[in-house]
Amino acid sequence: MNGLIDIQQLTTDEIEGLIKKALDIIADPEKYAQKCRGKKLATLFYEPSTRTRLSFEAAMLELGGSVLGFSEAQSSSASKGESVADTARTVGCFADIIAMRHPKEGAPLVADMNASIPVINAGDGGHNHPTQTLTDLLTIVREKGRLSNMRVGCCGDLKFGRTVHSLIAAMSRYDGVDFVLISPEELRVPEHVRTDVLEARGITYRETESLVEAMPELDVLYMTRVQRERFFNEADYIRLKDTYILTPDKLESAKEDLIIMHPLPRVNEISTAIDSDPRACYFKQVLNGKYIRMALILKLLGVE
Ligand code: NCD
Repeated sequence: MNGLIDIQQLTTDEIEGLIKKALDIIADPEKYAQKCRGKKLATLFYEPSTRTRLSFEAAMLELGGSVLGFSEAQSSSASKGESVADTARTVGCFADIIAMRHPKEGAPLVADMNASIPVINAGDGGHNHPTQTLTDLLTIVREKGRLSNMRVGCCGDLKFGRTVHSLIAAMSRYDGVDFVLISPEELRVPEHVRTDVLEARGITYRETESLVEAMPELDVLYMTRVQRERFFNEADYIRLKDTYILTPDKLESAKEDLIIMHPLPRVNEISTAIDSDPRACYFKQVLNGKYIRMALILKLLGVE
């Protein structure tokens, strides 16, 4: 594999290397401003995106490189029936690295196996989202100064929410990390996360439907959107979409140094009244996403 498809591909040292590099970029962006001069990033987005696509593009531009690509499948040859493998082979003739988002789980892996250049998974269906997780890890390090010894509460759509699957896979390698998984019965984490990650690694976790009950013990609260586009019927979505709405009263029992995260976009899960709370970190995550993607592009292109 040339690119980054699953966060599990990276060793803990490699993750820490990326975080260190991102912190160095934050401290001295000038040093990196020409590192990717002459290099091109292609963003192939078959699904909607604001942050992920634009942060990849901003990352490459801030490294002195250029960007090309498409932001909807309809404007690409996918609409004529071209396979992901052929599109990836084609784009390999024009660019040096690809960031791909696709509604089908595994599509970026197929692209990586067929392209001559590295492919980064920018979200595949309800499966994984490794660069969001790198963003989240950088945010936790910057806000809490550590990745170990904490209780992480993941709340909302834990079934279809790909960011949570990758976050659990990454955080469960650190000592003293455990999880409270807060969701309605129908949106619990999938079996593969439970057996291949949590149980395989002997991680302590507990499942609950109550955010209020879990709140006092959390160090990180990771809220998620109910993933409407992955539901089989609208009625189920409507019934479940507002199960959790974080409002200031629910934070009364929370720790002073809790951090509130969300990969965004939010719909109703976090009241805008929380935005001014010093514990709210979701817009800091957005900015961190650009820096960690700069670090990742440098690594995958082998730029020192
Ligand atoms: C997330 C995604 O696409 O999985 N968004 C993002 O990349 N920041 C979360 C979501 O869409 O709910």
